Amino acid sequence: MHINLLLMDSKNSLKKTDFSLTDVISIYDFSKKDILAVLKRAEEIDSMTPMQKSKLLENKIVASMFFEPSTRTRLSFETAIQALGGKVIGFAEAGITSAKKGETFSDTIKVMSNYADLLVMRHPLSGTARLAAEVSLKPILNGGDGSNQHPTQTLLDLYTIKKFVGKLDNLKIGFVGDLKYGRTVHSLATALTHFNATQYYISPESLKMPKHITEEVQEKSKVYETEDIEKFIPEVDVLYMTRIQKERFPDEIEYNKVKNAYILTKAMLVNAKKEMKVMHPLPRVNEISTDVDDTPHAIYFQQTAAGIPVREALLDLLSKVKK
Ligand code: CP
Repeated sequence: MHINLLLMDSKNSLKKTDFSLTDVISIYDFSKKDILAVLKRAEEIDSMTPMQKSKLLENKIVASMFFEPSTRTRLSFETAIQALGGKVIGFAEAGITSAKKGETFSDTIKVMSNYADLLVMRHPLSGTARLAAEVSLKPILNGGDGSNQHPTQTLLDLYTIKKFVGKLDNLKIGFVGDLKYGRTVHSLATALTHFNATQYYISPESLKMPKHITEEVQEKSKVYETEDIEKFIPEVDVLYMTRIQKERFPDEIEYNKVKNAYILTKAMLVNAKKEMKVMHPLPRVNEISTDVDDTPHAIYFQQTAAGIPVREALLDLLSKVKK
């Protein structure tokens, strides 16, 4: 049985009913209320002193299990755990674990859930985070599963948009690049259906947003699809660039056809709204020219910083949950 034990206390203004989840697996599991609760808690934690923060995960152990490479997700989670007074165990690659000897993923998760109070994971296969949540005794936080979902990235993206664009409602947002394999855009496009966003999907034909996502989003929001990046730049409040994900292509020839499909340059932003923001989950390869970095449009490095308060909030909220 899953019980949410979220309590009100002097450092937590959320009510018991504001956050309903016992794992963070997919943005589909989040109601609008859940999303707003995470953002609110992130703002609260961000305004705490280091001493106040360091009590939130006191005596808790968090497992950080990365079966796929990561810089931002793993290290912002580990920074957040330490800032909240928790301790980290885990691995940054599966090659040093008993998976190498043939241990199944399910067995690894069951074992790790005996050692830790919370489990953060990333895996190259879609659906593994859901499987982990089913077998784990402790809450799971999905740091990305294959091309499926990256819910903690979405929450930090929303936090960044709220902070730098000043609103979440009625946004016009262009998603550019690898919309087929990009788990960050899958999660964010779904989340934004709670906020009446107009969405522009800009990709080569072979990397279009999966049809099921486009259709779901279209039920609630206006969606435009195009291959032409310059067409909608003057319209949007946010341009969300993504990397063409070489590692997900079954065929390198297909990757080579699209690898330079979009390269955003400073010159392409001359007709953008003055307040328009360029975001990117990073890492970038070549899809944003470095001459964009110093423009007031670029907020992708500030976006990485939002990973800390948002992941602190998620760790804090799930540390109060009993599965
Ligand atoms: N944005 C993101 O998920 O980055 P990493 O792959 O470095 O974690």
